Amino acid sequence: MRIVSTVCELREYVKTWRSIGKSIAFVPTMGNLHAGHLQLVNTAKKKADRVVVSIFVNPTQFGAGEDYETYPRTEQEDQRKLQAEGADLLFLPSVAEIYAPDARTEVTVTGLSDLYCGASRPGHFSGVAIVVCKLFNMAQPDIALFGLKDFQQLTIIKTMVRDLNIPVEIVGVDTVRELSGLAMSSRNGYLTDAEKQVAPKLYHSLCVARDAILAGNLAYADLEQQASQFLQQAGFQPDYFSVCRSSDLKKAGAEDVELVILAAAKMGKTRLIDNIYFSR
Ligand code: PAF
Repeated sequence: MRIVSTVCELREYVKTWRSIGKSIAFVPTMGNLHAGHLQLVNTAKKKADRVVVSIFVNPTQFGAGEDYETYPRTEQEDQRKLQAEGADLLFLPSVAEIYAPDARTEVTVTGLSDLYCGASRPGHFSGVAIVVCKLFNMAQPDIALFGLKDFQQLTIIKTMVRDLNIPVEIVGVDTVRELSGLAMSSRNGYLTDAEKQVAPKLYHSLCVARDAILAGNLAYADLEQQASQFLQQAGFQPDYFSVCRSSDLKKAGAEDVELVILAAAKMGKTRLIDNIYFSR
């Protein structure tokens, strides 16, 4: 696996591969790689000839008082895992390589960026959208892969790509879970042992709501309230629990069939998000 840190070097590799007819898959990450990330790389390998992975802890998607400084940075370990997984190129840029000091351009997917996680983390999704847009322009991949665990992020990226005519196919990859059901996340490392015992209840609450809907209960507001109450009693501080249309994340109505239930809750200091999507 080659490792580069400049856009120029990245483009050289991509140009060479393209010149010999190779297709390119891209997996953007913030590092601290777990089985969920490796699943993205593994899927990417099946879909394209060359796999480029980026590791960049993107400052613009962290709000004031969030964990930008303390976000786990495990570069050596990440490199080893990517090498073992068969990635072809690792892009490891500095902040200065990505952002000009006087950068002025913003990317905001209105109507989506300010909902759910965006309501609790103002500016977060504009930070995600600008960095992903820039990384696409830098790597110019044929396809890019993102975890379905971050369902709202994936919806925002798909919408941005459509609206800006970015020539990349976006592929969502299933969430990888611990045996307990807890969705893999770099932030799980913040959980204490005791919190780790309770954290799987977030996924459990999603499964209970889904099963109720599949059994014919369409009283979504009641289901949302019951789930929030359950989470609170289990020791979470629920942020949102929302039954949505999976196409545009608007609140689901009785006529909607393709659904996603989005949830976020704090367990101690750790913000956990998860979702479940299904057809009714
Ligand atoms: O999901 C992530 O790890 C990040 O939000 C992403 C897509 C790499 C952008 O920084």
